Amino acid sequence: MASRRPISVGLMGLGVVGGGVARALADKASAIEAFVGAPVRLTAALVAHPRRRRSDVPEGVRITGDPGHILDDPQVDIVVEVIGGEEPAFGHIQRALHNGKHVVTANKEVMAKHGPEVLAHAAEHGVSVGFEGSVGGGIPIIGPLLRELAANEISAVNAIINGTTNYMLTRMASDGIEYADALAEAQRLGYTEADPASDVDGVDAAYKLAILSSLAFHTTVRDTDVYREGIGSLAPADFAYAAELGYAVKLVAIAKRVGDEIQVRVHPAFLPAAHPLAKVDGVYNAVELEGDLVDWAMLQGPGAGARPTASAVVGDIMSIAQAVAAGAPPKPPPALDRGLRVQPMADLETKYYLRLRAVDRPGVMAQITRVLGDLHVSLASVIQKEVVDAAGTAEIVITTHTARESAVQDAVRELAALDVVIEVSNLVRVEDGRS
Ligand code: HSE
Repeated sequence: MASRRPISVGLMGLGVVGGGVARALADKASAIEAFVGAPVRLTAALVAHPRRRRSDVPEGVRITGDPGHILDDPQVDIVVEVIGGEEPAFGHIQRALHNGKHVVTANKEVMAKHGPEVLAHAAEHGVSVGFEGSVGGGIPIIGPLLRELAANEISAVNAIINGTTNYMLTRMASDGIEYADALAEAQRLGYTEADPASDVDGVDAAYKLAILSSLAFHTTVRDTDVYREGIGSLAPADFAYAAELGYAVKLVAIAKRVGDEIQVRVHPAFLPAAHPLAKVDGVYNAVELEGDLVDWAMLQGPGAGARPTASAVVGDIMSIAQAVAAGAPPKPPPALDRGLRVQPMADLETKYYLRLRAVDRPGVMAQITRVLGDLHVSLASVIQKEVVDAAGTAEIVITTHTARESAVQDAVRELAALDVVIEVSNLVRVEDGRS
């Protein structure tokens, strides 16, 4: 039976995202009430320093440093966890569920590492978990995977799901700014994780891809299943060659069904300038996916920041509050029972860009191409730039046709061992199309 009893929200964390959620709940109170059918009230907020004066919390909200004041308060209907990190957040979520509270979380680390347990625990206690804010900031992607696209067999998910690195790569490619300056800007704008290594090393994107691929392929994919490389190896020369060859440089997150296996990988990639993801710049994220009914669909929007993430979190609060007000039971958890295996990275087949420095004298190119040829790595293009230093070295850039990862890695090792090769400077995968 519908009730107009106020729905009480306890907020755990008042940082960038928590502050955005508190403001949105206050600013939009009447629109939220109209949608939900009952008022939704922020009644308590957990902070690290409860004695500090705060101007960003509405009157009447209990500020506390004790998680029990929210988790064990029988008046709280929905616990919103925006602390981030694995612990104590995971413990708080499990305790809230155990106490019969619905949970909304933006915590990708907890959902990537413990999502199946959290969802099963919620089902056991007859409550809901909303985690739209855990992937893609303001982009609705969890909801579509759980509901609107549920009729599809998903065969591929290609995404840019870390706002920090996309912001940095865009600034480095378009404006030529240095890596450290780009990172400092992203930090100033509130995009980065508490430890920005999580962004630049691809950890954050791997968490998000684990969540997306679990839902897309109905299989438990943990963060540790995701192959991961960060953006640290990219040098200004790689951006220049990418532009010369007609590519954009992106940190991609790819999940693809290959027979009974799935690829799940996060790494820098060259994308053709015409690729839909190549045009996704700045803090924007995008997820394109292929379903047997929908064909290709792409969702795009700001992937980090207080207001976009609050958009996702408050949307989850509203949807759960609406069900609570209507007395509706929680929806069953997503099925994760397909048991698809993760394909070993060595079996990947894609195209590659290889940049190396070699001695500049007759016969060197022949030695390099022989290594590649012997390993059945076929060349698509070769660029040799003029001698770059007094020692007579040259920079050689090779792109390949589709080749097997194991063969390319063997080639890199053999090339590095050649006397005429000074260094293999970088190897970047080239993702040429949608399939
Ligand atoms: N640090 C994350 C990013 C925040 O840059 O995308 C959103 O999850």
